[in-house]
Amino acid sequence: MTTFILFIGLFCLAEAQSFNSNQWSNPSMNRFYNPQNNQNNQNNQRGTNVSQLIVGSLMPIANGFDFVGSSSIITDNGQLFIVDTPNSGDTKNLNVMMQGLQSRGIQPSQINYLITTHGHPDHFGQGHLFTNAKNLMGGFEIAGSAFTTTPLRQDKDAYNLTPNIELWNTPGHTAQDVSLIAHNTVCCGTVAVVGDLILSDQDVLNSTLSMSFAQEPVIAKMNRNRVICASDYIVPGHGPMFRVTDQMRQIAQCQGRLSTDG
Ligand SMILES: *[C@@H]1O[C@H](CO)[C@@H](O)[C@H](O)[C@H]1NC(C)=O
Ligand SMILES: *[C@@H]1O[C@H](CO)[C@@H](O)[C@H](O)[C@H]1NC(C)=O
Repeated sequence: MTTFILFIGLFCLAEAQSFNSNQWSNPSMNRFYNPQNNQNNQNNQRGTNVSQLIVGSLMPIANGFDFVGSSSIITDNGQLFIVDTPNSGDTKNLNVMMQGLQSRGIQPSQINYLITTHGHPDHFGQGHLFTNAKNLMGGFEIAGSAFTTTPLRQDKDAYNLTPNIELWNTPGHTAQDVSLIAHNTVCCGTVAVVGDLILSDQDVLNSTLSMSFAQEPVIAKMNRNRVICASDYIVPGHGPMFRVTDQMRQIAQCQGRLSTDG
């Protein structure tokens, strides 16, 4: 009997390990490698991928809204990116973000890039946790109190941070929105992480609410369409990641590119 239980136990352990080895990251493996070593980020991922640490939401409440911004982790070529963090007073979602990192075996100090999509408080406020990250917001890189311009502020509307990761200027919701575009992801083709340029999948179908929030609705519409037509999936500012359907491509007036099953 004891032998039998031991056998089952070993079997489960072996199963758990083979399951874990298929994961993008593995906390126990990560402890085994040196988590302090910033060069070891390759251990946290295989290939390019985007996933949400916080699935944003938006709910009307008395005299306002409850806004939870999406926060995402992106990997490419051994580099780790965070897009957006919860507001400074939102300890509940701070915990969600930290647990998301922990479950992927990632320490905040390992993050290489912190991207803020725009300057609304439900999208930044915990960036100080990523002590080694290059901090990018709008067309600026921010280090301490020094703001230096990036290509988005100089002469470009898009540039590559790593082979599969681009940053685009996508203003409209505010005057300074940026979107991260991840190409060749392991699950989902091209994924755009867009902040509040697009609030949710529903927003693509009915943009009334979103346009009421937009600082420059006409420019926002143009950049929404640009992003929708270039992407297979979108991570919106206040909802779960969604697939771009043929209906969405029609709304965005995309030319000559329909998905395989819309
Ligand atoms: C890649 O991202 C998708 C969508 O966010 C997620 O479901 C999946 O688990 C990730 N894949 C890997 C290998 O991390
Ligand atoms: C679109 O959304 C607005 C506000 O959110 C709502 O009032 C309107 O009825 C919706 N339109 C359609 C066609 O569903």
